[in-house]
Amino acid sequence: MDRDALKNMAADAAVEYVKDGQIVGWGTGSTLRFVVGKLSGRIKKGLRIRGVATSLETARLAREAGIPLLADDAEWVVDLALDGADQVDPRLNLIKGGGGALLKEKIVAAAATRFVVVVDETKRVPVLGGSFPLPVEVVPFGWRTLAKRLERLGCRVTPRMKDGALFVTEVGHYILDLWFSKIDDPIRLEAELEKTPGVVCTGLFVGRADLAVVATQQGIVTLTRP
Ligand code: 5RP
Repeated sequence: MDRDALKNMAADAAVEYVKDGQIVGWGTGSTLRFVVGKLSGRIKKGLRIRGVATSLETARLAREAGIPLLADDAEWVVDLALDGADQVDPRLNLIKGGGGALLKEKIVAAAATRFVVVVDETKRVPVLGGSFPLPVEVVPFGWRTLAKRLERLGCRVTPRMKDGALFVTEVGHYILDLWFSKIDDPIRLEAELEKTPGVVCTGLFVGRADLAVVATQQGIVTLTRP
């Protein structure tokens, strides 16, 4: 099975968690595209759900699938957040933000009663870091100085680029990608980063996921947070 077939399989399993009447938080990325796509059939058959989208792209997909969205400034009670991840460790700690939507994704995950991560087996790692950088969303003011300071944490820092210019998030921030050989203590690193002025949000999601739906060549594996 190729990656898309695995994502498709993960999406099939993930939508089983969506129940009638729920408010669902929708993450961002290629896996979530499969998930949102799967629901349009069920909605046509009568499933009633509403949603909160973590990016303009997901909002567009949700509308196309017939999912009504709550206003960004409404007071949401999110029953279920569904999102992808770039890395998942055995404790269900995550690196997210490959698509640059980490801030909205973290806000929605924090607002959710249940957070289910939807991934294919290539995202599972014994330890976070290494092959994938940790995205850190920062304010534009002073970003080069901040990047130098973050290097002192023992990582290489590269600003996220798009089409030859600095990548700008939907809320007007930049992203610094922090390349660690490994992240042994994600709790400590998250705390260290979040107290650094200029840092808005990190792609470390520690102790937030309740469940991971993992598509493997052998079928679906469901992992719960230990
Ligand atoms: C976007 C994310 C995505 O969930 C993450 O990058 C995984 O994306 P994909 O499903 O395309 O592999 O965090 O900010």
